[in-house]
Amino acid sequence: MPELNFDKVFASLDLRIGEISNIDQFDEISKEFLGKSSLISEERKKLSSLSNEDKKNYGMKLTEATEFITSKINEQRQLFLNSQFSVQEEAEIADISIDWKPLRGSYKHVLSTVMEEVVSIFSSIGYEVAYGPEAETSWHNFDALNTPDWHPARYESDTLYLDKNLETLLRTQTSTVQIRHMEENDPPVYIVAPGRVFRSDQLDATHSPVFHQLEGLAIDKNLTFTDLKGTLEFFVKEFFGSDVETKFIPHFFPFTEPSAEVLVKWQNGEWLEILGCGMVDPNVLSNVSYPDTYKGFAWGVGIERLAMLRYNIDHIKNFYENDIRFLEQF
Ligand code: DAH
Repeated sequence: MPELNFDKVFASLDLRIGEISNIDQFDEISKEFLGKSSLISEERKKLSSLSNEDKKNYGMKLTEATEFITSKINEQRQLFLNSQFSVQEEAEIADISIDWKPLRGSYKHVLSTVMEEVVSIFSSIGYEVAYGPEAETSWHNFDALNTPDWHPARYESDTLYLDKNLETLLRTQTSTVQIRHMEENDPPVYIVAPGRVFRSDQLDATHSPVFHQLEGLAIDKNLTFTDLKGTLEFFVKEFFGSDVETKFIPHFFPFTEPSAEVLVKWQNGEWLEILGCGMVDPNVLSNVSYPDTYKGFAWGVGIERLAMLRYNIDHIKNFYENDIRFLEQF
């Protein structure tokens, strides 16, 4: 009796399994090798025509082959499932790592921190905060501040104008806020005005075309130069420490009379200018129609300058370059 070549059947089963690309194909293979019209089923039909002995032997072989094929298909199905699962798992791990952005702590820019600190020193002695626009009129930036027509600060080489008639400009100083505030408010006045200012300057170690100032203005009935000195000395000691030495030297500003600059003695013994100040010129007060019974003092301090001195920063461009290695030191 010719028997089925089982080795050939198993070999072709291996081949078919090797070609599988999706899980449903295992059912098709199972049908192909064990279903009604499979070779094994065909052989089983022939058993009835065999002798008892052959029927028993061949029947056993067919049963063993059926079991072998069944377990082979189940085992391979499981392996296929596992491999699909780990492919999917790997893809998911990769997804997670792609979407994962490391969180950095955030913090304020050093200029904001210094500005806030300066504002809070003056708020602690009763000053309120006022703001003004960065695009200004020549009136607020120059005329009302008693700046004569011939003053070099008005030159187009120094000031960034916004129109041909030189009537509007980017403010060159926060002193503009003195005028705006007094135009809107009656005395007494105790304000500080933080903000950005603009000049037609080349960038060098200590100059930038855009930088920050804090303006201060005190107007009241009996204010004297002693009040100005006391206020600014208090500020300098709060900011730089109580043992820092200061001195006032005469200077000229159109909007103050007398005017002075405040210098701070630095570690290397050098005196460095940190702000301009003075008693508000009576012309300024009359420009905003304040009664002449009022007097006061004003000052303007450069924020970059304060930060450079305190932290020993050697070039102003460090503040604006947004290099994280610089910024995260503060
Ligand atoms: N506005 C001056 C500047 O930018 C600084 C200044 C000097 C402001 C004297 C004042 C002052 O209020 O009284 O250089």
